[in-house]
Amino acid sequence: MNRMKFCLAFAIAAASPTLADDVPFAAPPLVSPGLPSAPSATLGDIMGKLQLRHIKLWFAIKSRNWDLTDYELGQMRDSFENAVILYRNIPVELIASATNPLITLQAAAKAKDFAKAERGFTELTVACNACHKAAQIGFITIQTPTSSPFADQAFSPLKN
Ligand code: HEC
Repeated sequence: MNRMKFCLAFAIAAASPTLADDVPFAAPPLVSPGLPSAPSATLGDIMGKLQLRHIKLWFAIKSRNWDLTDYELGQMRDSFENAVILYRNIPVELIASATNPLITLQAAAKAKDFAKAERGFTELTVACNACHKAAQIGFITIQTPTSSPFADQAFSPLKN
């Protein structure tokens, strides 16, 4: 495609509704009288945070930092809650299949059980991808992180 054609195609794409509007679960709730007018975060933004926390969660588990594991689980639960509040058209069973592993993981952190935590993490990742498939964005594929981009955070537990 030459440069001119590319610019034209881009202009057309920019003029049509944003891609997020085509994703089934990504349409924000209709505005009702008395309710806040616009959602404070898009579903894509909430997901971006979930992605960061999914990585931190894995490195917390891998480092057997159970306090941090527990903390990140709470953060992820909050993100899922925000998704449910702001985007009411997300099927509840798809949310539950992602939040149930959080409960398993919380128990694993409490018991300091690495094998159980690893299984819970896999279940969680499977649930991320199951919902993406259902939302016709199966091309957003989540996996167990291979490296941490958080060079400024130490994941090992503090030694007292
Ligand atoms: C209940 C459904 C559901 C679950 C569960 C879910 N997602 Fe998503 N995810 C979505 C939808 C819908 C979008 C598209 C949002 C949009 O385009 O506005 C999305 C988009 C994303 C994106 C793309 C955001 C971007 O800006 O690049 C990432 C990354 C992502 N999800 C990560 C995750 C991770 C990690 C998990 C699991 C911990 C997860 N998601 C669980 C529904 C879900």
